[in-house]
Amino acid sequence: MKEKTLLSAEAGQTDEGTLLCVKDLRTWFEMKRWGFFSAGFVRAVDGLSFEVKKGEAVTIVGESGSGKTTLLRTILGLARPTGGEMVFDGKRIDYGDPSHIKWLRWQIGFVQQDPYGALPPFMSVSRILREPLIVNKVDRDEHRQRIREALEEVRLTPVDDFLNKYPHMLSGGQQQRLVIARALLLRPKLIAADEPVSMLDASVRVEVLELMRKIQDDYSLGVIYITHDLSSVRYFSQRAFVMYAARMVEKAAVGELTSNTLHPYTQVLLNAIADPDPENVNQFRDVPPGEPPSLINPPDGCRFHPRCARMIEGLCDTEEPPEFEPSPGHFVECWLYR
Ligand SMILES: Nc1ncnc2c1ncn2[C@@H]1O[C@H](COP(=O)(O)OP(=O)(O)O)[C@@H](O)[C@H]1O
Ligand SMILES: [Mg+2]
Repeated sequence: MKEKTLLSAEAGQTDEGTLLCVKDLRTWFEMKRWGFFSAGFVRAVDGLSFEVKKGEAVTIVGESGSGKTTLLRTILGLARPTGGEMVFDGKRIDYGDPSHIKWLRWQIGFVQQDPYGALPPFMSVSRILREPLIVNKVDRDEHRQRIREALEEVRLTPVDDFLNKYPHMLSGGQQQRLVIARALLLRPKLIAADEPVSMLDASVRVEVLELMRKIQDDYSLGVIYITHDLSSVRYFSQRAFVMYAARMVEKAAVGELTSNTLHPYTQVLLNAIADPDPENVNQFRDVPPGEPPSLINPPDGCRFHPRCARMIEGLCDTEEPPEFEPSPGHFVECWLYR
């Protein structure tokens, strides 16, 4: 209740329909040599701005090392930003205030990449699910009911068969469903899922993604779904943001992003999607050579310019592109659309 008053006192910084608003967010990690000499920074998240509306699902897609996990950890309050700001449900987050961080952890359910690593191995299912209820002082009389509901929600049924099992007795798909049940327990407003199916067998991936989408629908939850696989964006069919080297290079509705792709990097991602049709095995794929740049010394200008076929000399290699909006709601950081 105390948190409610705190919330309304500081509300009104974003409009009603906005759940999460991030502005120029930066999370850098300092590299230390001999304990105290700074050897520079890993700029894992380097100036990101975006919004998630209430009940909206956004997909963030980017290669490994592009800063996706660091972004989620910052949103969850697990990493402290170097700069920028975040407003969640009308409340500006003060990362130095432990009560804000605790409140955030209540509001945002976290689904990690590796379900087995995320579950304490010596706790039974019922103990794992009771833990967040105890920590957050939910009325004891409610525990049993809430745990049953959460397990039913993720279809770990009959519930009684699962309550006394340990994580190693569950399949990978069941473990991830248990992680989702735990994320739902505190009735969050947002689910933040970090590559939730990348470590699961292909056969259960669809099932877990379908489950997440159903939960999002049923409760009109906000979802941030992180993936390195652009072909899975269709499961959450609202907006998608593309990350490259700690920046968000393109943001648009999913249909628009795939039918009217603007950024040369997004084009590369789309071209690289595996085509299961053996007939197309020799089809030309326009994937440029090279690797994403170092986040310690990112290239001047546009970070993609060393790999970009449409690079404009004297511009892309010197000036960082601002965000352009060539069509309403479609944003791109690329000089081609100036
Ligand atoms: N705690 C940390 N300390 C130093 N560097 C880190 C830390 N966490 C992540 N990084 C670096 O930040 C960059 C982005 O990592 P990450 O956010 O995990 O990317 P992704 O999830 O997209 O693969 C990587 O270069 C990684 O090595
Ligand atoms: Mg990651």
